[in-house]
Amino acid sequence: MQNIHAAITGIGAFLPEYRLTNEEISTMVDTSDEWIMQRIGIKERRILKESDKATSDMGVEAINQLLQKTNTSPDEIDLVICATITPDRPFPATANIISRKARLTNAWSFDLSAACSGFVFALTTGAKFVESGQYKKVIVVGADMMSAITDYTDRSTCPLFGDGAGAVLLEPTTEEIGVMDHINRTDGKGRHYLHMKAGGSKRPASIETIQNREHFVHQDGKTVFKYAVSRMADVAVEIMEKNDITPENLAWLVPHQANMRIIDAVARRMQIDSEQVMINIQKYGNTTAATIPLCLYDYEKQLKKGDNIILAAFGAGFTWGSVYLKWAYNS
Ligand code: UT7
Repeated sequence: MQNIHAAITGIGAFLPEYRLTNEEISTMVDTSDEWIMQRIGIKERRILKESDKATSDMGVEAINQLLQKTNTSPDEIDLVICATITPDRPFPATANIISRKARLTNAWSFDLSAACSGFVFALTTGAKFVESGQYKKVIVVGADMMSAITDYTDRSTCPLFGDGAGAVLLEPTTEEIGVMDHINRTDGKGRHYLHMKAGGSKRPASIETIQNREHFVHQDGKTVFKYAVSRMADVAVEIMEKNDITPENLAWLVPHQANMRIIDAVARRMQIDSEQVMINIQKYGNTTAATIPLCLYDYEKQLKKGDNIILAAFGAGFTWGSVYLKWAYNS
């Protein structure tokens, strides 16, 4: 029997219209465009302002566009995996809500929580269902409404995050294209450095947790920075060596977009040029599970069938991972 690979056959995306600029953030906390550009590399981020909308709505928009672009009927979808850390509610799963709203009547669905590595983990999970031969059309959607858990009185975190969603369709192929390999890792010792302190079973919501602002992202930026650089670079270099990818035959690195300085450091360790790196952090900031599909979406027209692509991410947990993709189509 021939090997089945899972190929990405289309991408959809959604970005809210509202642009939160560095200038506006400078009116909320003691910061400046110059500091944010120098230390992070973000100019503006998109924010979902409509009070009746949430993460699932962004996921639905991305999926509707994906279905249209790939000429796929909603009832053909077998499975939806939604990577998010900002679910509409703690339960039910946002993937269940998305499936209902996008009328994916034959799909079963679940959420996957791996923070900024969410898309990489969900993509490798979805690929396994396709590679089994049992599933023909799997959607992987990375969607996060980070504005819902960002403390806009904390200058050390509020410039970092934005809202958005990106979705890909995975389909089987016997050609040597698609998801070729992955290296995923987790280490719970990182749990203290980047987390939400309350709202779970360890510390349920109370008046005290609200007064202490414990329902927002808390981060020890320096520690996370250090681990992000070393772990992301480690897995990206490891997957290159394992698959005989060289700086010369690599078409693109698609790094998680958390900080321009982290992206540059990873590219240097891989010995690749800045022209080989997908970057859109300046426009959207860190959209957590959505950064990688949003990059693929922005660069889709430049991608060619057979291109060697490496995805690399690092996030809360700690979680980190890399995927080696051979791109499956010309736009
Ligand atoms: O996506 C998941 C993973 N997350 C990440 O990868 C984020 C990793 N961490 C980072 O990107 C960086 O650590 C930050 C961008 C969060 C912070 O940059 P940094 O260079 O590590 O700054 P720092 O936290 O060491 O702070 C340096 C100084 C401090 O002032 P003092 O103590 O030296 O006087 C901060 O108070 O910068 C100050 N500072 C700011 N100043 C102006 C912190 N935030 C700001 C700000 N504007 N927004």
